[in-house]
Amino acid sequence: MAAPLSESSVKLSSPPLFILICSLLIISTTTQLQSHDEEGFISVLVSDKGLEFAKDLVISKALNSMLPLQLPHIRKSVRVPVVGEVDVLLSNIMIASVGIQSSYVKTGEEGIALIVSGATANLSLNWEYSYSSWFIPFPISERGSASVKVEGMEVGLTSTLTNQGGTLKLALLDCGCYVEAISIKLDGGSPWLYQIAVAAFEGQIATTVEKAIPEKISEGITILDAKLQDLPRYMPVGEAAVLNVTFVKDPALSDSSIDLEIDGLFTTSDHNIAFLEKSPNLSLSSSSCNGMVKMIQISLHENVLKSASSVYFNAGYMNLIVDKMPDQKLLNTAGWKYTVPQLYKQYPDDDMQLNISASSLPMIEVSDSGIYTTLYSDVTIDVLDSGDVVPVACISLVSETLLILCDVYTSILLGIDIVFNR
Ligand SMILES: *[C@@H]1O[C@H](CO)[C@@H](O)[C@H](O)[C@H]1NC(C)=O
Ligand SMILES: *[C@@H]1O[C@H](CO)[C@@H](O)[C@H](O)[C@H]1NC(C)=O
Ligand SMILES: *[C@@H]1O[C@H](CO)[C@@H](O)[C@H](O)[C@H]1NC(C)=O
Ligand SMILES: *[C@@H]1O[C@H](CO)[C@@H](O)[C@H](O)[C@H]1NC(C)=O
Repeated sequence: MAAPLSESSVKLSSPPLFILICSLLIISTTTQLQSHDEEGFISVLVSDKGLEFAKDLVISKALNSMLPLQLPHIRKSVRVPVVGEVDVLLSNIMIASVGIQSSYVKTGEEGIALIVSGATANLSLNWEYSYSSWFIPFPISERGSASVKVEGMEVGLTSTLTNQGGTLKLALLDCGCYVEAISIKLDGGSPWLYQIAVAAFEGQIATTVEKAIPEKISEGITILDAKLQDLPRYMPVGEAAVLNVTFVKDPALSDSSIDLEIDGLFTTSDHNIAFLEKSPNLSLSSSSCNGMVKMIQISLHENVLKSASSVYFNAGYMNLIVDKMPDQKLLNTAGWKYTVPQLYKQYPDDDMQLNISASSLPMIEVSDSGIYTTLYSDVTIDVLDSGDVVPVACISLVSETLLILCDVYTSILLGIDIVFNR
């Protein structure tokens, strides 16, 4: 009873979804409740290029976790002339692969919109039917498989990104899926199954896809949101310090970019150093060494560096003991026998060490040309005399350093741009 492979297809019509989504963003009513006095010391600007990169990453990750996607089965009674009432069941409906033609992301005051258009999908399913008639003494049934091609699929979603107690909250505002055309290829089956039953099912398969995809996306957004909420608010940097990565306000979503404000100050691991009062004004100097379009621009306020040096200074980390040298005999009084005979006389053949320690908080200043640091340090020369550390001389040093920002730029890969400002 096996029939040759046959195919049928149908065009479904309903308004393209992306028009709805675009209008959603355009009619955005400006209801941003954010206080402007809260600024972070680190701000991260994700540019349109960065968003584009993130979008592709999110879509490929989402597809990987979604597929294969099992859809609910479809059961229907179809009236077939002569044959009568036929009970048809489509089961094991599975989206095995999805191909994406184009996608784009758009940010606006209301949120982030992501649109995938011209997508295709391949589905597989099993079909079976059965019927009984007064003129046949036993019920007739048949089963087989089919492949379904979904074409011109559009998926769109809008979501909001807000600050919730210092972490980011992602919430889905709206999500939709629209299928333009669908074609079914049956493997086996009676000719009448094509003529009548298949046409009756195309719309239903499309509806099932249009319903299942937004449900799956909604699940995915919930999982992603939970991951965002789980991000730590403090990031350990070495043993002594943690960086406060608490978000200080709602992300500012402007036309095709996102600005994230992070507290950005260093504190001690036990959080008990209250650093610096917040400086009233933040002026962003977006100097750039080359014209390359950056995906992410990170702005660091001078206070980030100051808080780091404050934490390390107070934790006693700005201290260095030098007891090895290329010319090791300089670290023994014997090496000074002829130049400083008094030293050798008092401490014959004793080892020596240099104790270099910062004597005050390093001064850090950010300017257009770079970062100036001034470090005041004391260098103590110690003699190690039978277990005692005896300081014999002390020198005060002032060292000034200028870090040129271009060196920082060139070392940063992936198009991340770092700007320092005060
Ligand atoms: C669907 O299957 C066809 C042929 O079997 C193949 O050419 C096409 O690339 C597949 N589409 C996707 C999105 O995997
Ligand atoms: C971390 O930053 C948040 C937001 O600015 C602030 O409320 C919190 O007190 C900071 N934590 C510490 C330990 O300074
Ligand atoms: C800081 O900004 C305020 C208003 O924006 C301005 O009035 C004030 O002069 C600024 N202070 C400094 C030190 O630039
Ligand atoms: C090094 O010098 C600092 C202050 O000058 C002192 O507090 C510290 O104990 C010294 N360290 C050693 C190992 O001598």
